Amino acid sequence: MDTFALGNLSVHRIGFGAMQLPGPGVMGPPRDRDAAIAVLRRAVELGVDHIDTAQFYGPDVSNELIRAALHPYPDDLVLVSKVGAVRDADGGWLPAQRPEELRSAVEDNLRSLGVEQLGAVNLRLHDGESVALEDQLAEMVALREEGKIAGVGISTATREQVQQAVEQAGIVCVQNAFSLLDRSDADVVELCHGAGVAYVPYFPLGSAFPGTPKVVEDPAVLAVAARTGATPAQVGLAWLLAHRDNVLLIPGTSSVAHLEENVAVADVQLSPQDLEELERDR
Ligand SMILES: NC(=O)c1ccc[n+]([C@@H]2O[C@H](COP(=O)([O-])OP(=O)(O)OC[C@H]3O[C@@H](n4cnc5c(N)ncnc54)[C@H](OP(=O)(O)O)[C@@H]3O)[C@@H](O)[C@H]2O)c1
Repeated sequence: MDTFALGNLSVHRIGFGAMQLPGPGVMGPPRDRDAAIAVLRRAVELGVDHIDTAQFYGPDVSNELIRAALHPYPDDLVLVSKVGAVRDADGGWLPAQRPEELRSAVEDNLRSLGVEQLGAVNLRLHDGESVALEDQLAEMVALREEGKIAGVGISTATREQVQQAVEQAGIVCVQNAFSLLDRSDADVVELCHGAGVAYVPYFPLGSAFPGTPKVVEDPAVLAVAARTGATPAQVGLAWLLAHRDNVLLIPGTSSVAHLEENVAVADVQLSPQDLEELERDR
């Protein structure tokens, strides 16, 4: 499997996102705990060395499952988390951006995952920020200097915010929504490519949330899948891998079968004809 740098760390381009492991709406325990643990163990068995998580998945559920399934961790496993949000009792996502909130969120992640350092932590932004980005980034840099995180990332950020984070914090990754069906962030992928920063799209398959177009239901994706023998999810993920070499995948799944399919995209090569067909009419 190809690799790309996350700062000083190197990870395979196909990783795993842990947001589908908790219960519905990313709240509460999984429907089947043994199945969730099996997904995590199978991911590592298949060579996944980059797992994306957050304390606010569950909350407290994804991190607990990762620790239960995988601790003591393989030496090469890079755990990436994010800070900047908390959940309310109804599952709402609320901003928690003050420097002291960012710090305590990093410490919660260290404790719950049972590590002394996180591979990277994404600063998750929200619309209508009430805390200056400069102050948030300064706290993330301080946490890196103290050795609590190896690399700083930024998430749900505009092009200008990403540029500021590159300059002020020397970020190693960006997590924004991007997929074959939603290319509104293509300019940020390019910015990251030029800066040697990993671009880690969330919602690579269109997410589990209702109301967003699903890559596996797209007619052109289905046509290419039928012709090539790849699955629809593999076609969507292979398009992302082909888009730029700084793109790292973290598709989310609660199913071992889907995980195996997603990791096997390493062996799927889209031809110029496939790519042309996927581009048509967009
Ligand atoms: N930074 C941020 O703010 C942010 C926001 C959202 C997500 N994330 C991260 O990004 C990761 C990816 O995003 P996501 O999980 O929301 O969405 P996603 O990967 O686009 O899609 C997940 C959905 O696709 C389904 N799926 C996965 N593999 C499949 C396959 N091979 N065939 C058919 N369906 C498949 C899953 O269902 P099954 O469970 O049934 O497989 C689930 O419903 C998350 O897990 C999380 O780690 C970050």
